[in-house]
Amino acid sequence: VIDNLDELTNQVVKKICLIVKKKPDAVLCFACGETPRPIMNKLIILHKNKEIDFSRVRIVGLDEWLGVDRETVGSCAQMLYDDFFTPMNFREDQISIFNGKSNNLQKEITDATRIVDELGIDFVLLGIGMNGHIGLNEPGTEIGSGVRVVQLSTTTKQVMGKYFEGHFDIQSGITLGFSQLLNSRNIVLMATGNRKSEIVKKIVHSEPNIDIPATFFKKSNYESEFYIDKDAGNDIYLE
Ligand code: F6R
Repeated sequence: VIDNLDELTNQVVKKICLIVKKKPDAVLCFACGETPRPIMNKLIILHKNKEIDFSRVRIVGLDEWLGVDRETVGSCAQMLYDDFFTPMNFREDQISIFNGKSNNLQKEITDATRIVDELGIDFVLLGIGMNGHIGLNEPGTEIGSGVRVVQLSTTTKQVMGKYFEGHFDIQSGITLGFSQLLNSRNIVLMATGNRKSEIVKKIVHSEPNIDIPATFFKKSNYESEFYIDKDAGNDIYLE
């Protein structure tokens, strides 16, 4: 638990920069949504100041809502491009993310599986859903799950409204599974804000179990770290 969000941000950013310094063509994977924003903003500042060189990194997508694409405000693609990829001057050849409007979802699945199998993921930054979901791996997800189309949980359907300006009737998504994520070489889970305090407490105090997918990282094949700010960490020590 790191009280100060700036300090937390600096630590995660430092970790990513070290990974890319050691391996300039590292494969990086970022959740979209609110949680990773401070990290992305800081990386953008470093990039603009020419303090880092991310010109050779590869980006693989974590997840996307089905039925929307980059043109839809609130889609993962839109957030990632507008708030991160474009300011970082990433080229198209560096980016492989899901197209939520594809009429060939099997190809989306096969392509993502192949890329991750071939290259591996060097670093993944994950947020945590209010129900403990990771990417769009909802409660009930098996630990051996692969890239696939998933039905969204009721909680996720309620929460997702915050990303979209208009009303979208989205029932499903596409996501990397735990087969991909648990094999990532560096895993950072991050939770910030008071609204995450209840789920954070459950994650910290639970054995790995399919009802709270985030707990699977206690079994990851490589080191995984959980960064929590003061507000999200508030309940951890409460009975
Ligand atoms: C989005 C994703 C989701 C979010 C999670 C938390 O790509 O992977 O699992 O990380 O729903 O969302 P925020 O950060 O908006 O609270």
